[in-house]
Amino acid sequence: MSPLLVLGVETSCDETAVAILRGRKELLASEISSQIDLHKKYGGVVPEVASRNHLPRIGPLIELAVERASCSLSEIDCVAATRGPGLLTSLLVGYSAAKGLSIGLGRPFLGINHLEGHLLSPFLGEPDGPVPSIGLIVSGGHTLLIHLNEVGSYRLLGRTLDDAAGEAFDKVAKLLGLPYPGGPEIDRLAKHGNPKRFTLPRSMLTSRDFNFSFSGLKTAVRYLLPKLDGDFQADLCASFQEAVVDVLVQKAVRAANAAGMNLITVSGGVSSNSRLRYKMADAAAAAGLDLKLANPSFSTDNAAMIAYAALERYLRGYRSDLGEDADPNLKIG
Ligand code: KG4
Ligand code: ZN
Repeated sequence: MSPLLVLGVETSCDETAVAILRGRKELLASEISSQIDLHKKYGGVVPEVASRNHLPRIGPLIELAVERASCSLSEIDCVAATRGPGLLTSLLVGYSAAKGLSIGLGRPFLGINHLEGHLLSPFLGEPDGPVPSIGLIVSGGHTLLIHLNEVGSYRLLGRTLDDAAGEAFDKVAKLLGLPYPGGPEIDRLAKHGNPKRFTLPRSMLTSRDFNFSFSGLKTAVRYLLPKLDGDFQADLCASFQEAVVDVLVQKAVRAANAAGMNLITVSGGVSSNSRLRYKMADAAAAAGLDLKLANPSFSTDNAAMIAYAALERYLRGYRSDLGEDADPNLKIG
């Protein structure tokens, strides 16, 4: 039997994305149409603008993915789309298009939790699929520590109590007058900065739970800024980034030790941060833990991770009911 052919769609925020995956190892197409330039002038994603722009893009992007994959729609075995969490009006575009496709093709449909997509993304390409691990998901909307026991069985260990890590990067970048999204800008500037020049808070670092808080750090930067002059931008970026990374790394290692797990995974947009990747690798090695980082091309929003999560679920017998609605507040674990 030839490997399963899955078409995945992702429209939870401002990226329209379609991917086609054959079995665990062959990603035949992963198309992303980014709207970043449209939202840049507002300094963040405007939901109404996002959904309006998904609409004309989704059909042509599905056609493009099929063309790039050199397959035909009739060969698709399963159609999947992000069901939530995300912006409802954005979710609805991809979710409805994928459901329509599944009905038209007479193939099963799978509604996928966007966070499960991120969580499993570090395993994309692995011949044997996901294994038990502690997953750190760090994105623009979420910061979560999850115990992955088996595909479909997740336990939430901790989460941010206020801002997500990516949100903190974006907000601090905005304070510094840097363009949206701010994470990659801070990462780039911090490479030339001194992370020790400014002492910034590492909230909840010593708390016994696995929760996070980043809004105090953002506020500390806001109060510090008016007192600074001269050349401080790179040092401030590096000091801020170091504070975020220190908390993420230490809590992830502690969670793995507490759960008796020897593998940590890191996924979501912020997982492409160069300092986080470096310090996570260092800390995991020192603690004798294995580490799997999402490939940077699958760390920010993409449809390959949705197709992949669907493939793993399909193989375990999961199917979704077409009567299920998109859910902007869908939970994991
Ligand atoms: O996973 P993602 O594409 O969207 C959500 O599901 O939220 O993550 C986007 C977030 C943004 O906040 C962006 O600033 C951040 O990921 N990000 C980074 C880097 N690249 C993207 N943050 C820090 N360093 C980076 N290199
Ligand atoms: Zn995401």
